[in-house]
Amino acid sequence: MAVQTFGDPGGLAVVDLPAPRPAAGEVVITTEAIGVGGVDALIRSGAFAAFGFEAGHVLGGEVAGTVTAIGAGVDESWAGARVWTPLPSGVGGGYAEQAVARATTLVRLPPGVSAVDAVTLAGSGVVAHFGLRHAHFAPGESVLVRGAAGGIGVLAVQLAARGGAGAIAVTTSSAERGARLRALGATHVLDRSGEGSTGYDVIIDIVGGEELPSFFARLNPNGRLVVVGAIAGPPPARLAADMFPAFRKSLSFAMFSADSVSDADRRTVAGELLAAAGRGEVAAVVHDVLPLAHAELAHRQLDAGAVFGRIALVPE
Ligand SMILES: NC(=O)c1ccc[n+]([C@@H]2O[C@H](COP(=O)([O-])OP(=O)(O)OC[C@H]3O[C@@H](n4cnc5c(N)ncnc54)[C@H](OP(=O)(O)O)[C@@H]3O)[C@@H](O)[C@H]2O)c1
Repeated sequence: MAVQTFGDPGGLAVVDLPAPRPAAGEVVITTEAIGVGGVDALIRSGAFAAFGFEAGHVLGGEVAGTVTAIGAGVDESWAGARVWTPLPSGVGGGYAEQAVARATTLVRLPPGVSAVDAVTLAGSGVVAHFGLRHAHFAPGESVLVRGAAGGIGVLAVQLAARGGAGAIAVTTSSAERGARLRALGATHVLDRSGEGSTGYDVIIDIVGGEELPSFFARLNPNGRLVVVGAIAGPPPARLAADMFPAFRKSLSFAMFSADSVSDADRRTVAGELLAAAGRGEVAAVVHDVLPLAHAELAHRQLDAGAVFGRIALVPE
C-alpha cells in the first residue's frame, strides 16, 4: 500500500503498488513510521512542480523501520536492522509500507528511541544542526528562529539552547505556542512580524516570503541570516536592495539545504541526535500519529496551520 498525490489533501489516493526491489547499493525498508512535514504539503500542492514532482508522486522524505531486503553490494549486516533514513531527495516514496533507500544513508535506531520519535526529530534536526553551522553560530550568540513552531523550528530552538545560545527568540502565531517553545528553550516570544525586537547574531529562517527582508533590521553587526525553508514562498526579488542600506553592518545572507550535506556527515549528525533523544536530551515534538491510510487528515492539519512539531504516519 502507498499514498499517491497531487492537489488538495483529498487528492491523496491509497493505492496498491508492486513491492519494490532494491537495486545495487539500495535496501528495502518495511516502514514502522513515516515523517510528515511542511515540505510534503508544498510538494502535494504543486508549489515544487519546478523541481520535477509530477502527479502520482509518492510523498515522504524520511522513514524508520526494518531492513527487509538488500541490494547487491550492500553489507549483509544491514539485513534485519531497525533504522532511520532520509529518502533520496526528489524521489521520496516514504508514504508506503515499503520504501527504498540508499544503504549509505542508513542510521541504526538506538535503544529507547521509537520509530515515531526518529522520523519526528532526525530529518528536521539535521536541517537545524547544519543550518546553525552554516550560520557560524557560536556559544553565547543570540539566535532568532523564524517559524519556530514547525518540525525544523522546534529542533533549531533546542539545538541553539544545547549549543549555549545567549538568547533564543522565536516567531509564532499564538501565546500557547510561545509557551511550548519556551519549554523547549526559547527565551523571547515574538509574533510573526518579529517587530519590536532586534539584536540577533543569527537568524534561522524557515518562512521566507515577502516579509523576509524586514528581518535584516533585527541583526547585529556581522549578523547572519540563513534561509532553511520557504513555507511562505521564496524571498522577493528586492532582497539585495533591501539588504544594502545595512551595508555598514557587514550582514550575511545565505541559504542552506540538507542536499548539500554528505551522506557521511548526515549519518553522523542524525546518529548523534537520535542518541541524544535516547538519553532524553533532545525532545521529539510529535503533533499526532495517524494511520498511513489517513495521510489526507495529516495534510488537512498541515494546510490549516494546526501542526506543532511534526506528524508521523504508521502503516497498520
Ligand atoms: N533546508 C532543508 O534542507 C530543508 C529540508 C526539509 C524542509 N525544508 C523546508 O522547510 C520548510 C518546512 O519546514 P517545517 O516543516 O519546519 O515548517 P512548517 O511546520 O510547515 O511551518 C513552520 C511554521 O511556520 C509558521 N508559518 C507558516 N506559514 C507562515 C507564514 N505565512 N508566515 C509566517 N510564519 C508562518 C507556522 O507557525 P506559527 O503559526 O506559529 O507562526 C508553522 O508552524 C519548507 O519550506 C521546506 O521546503 C528545508
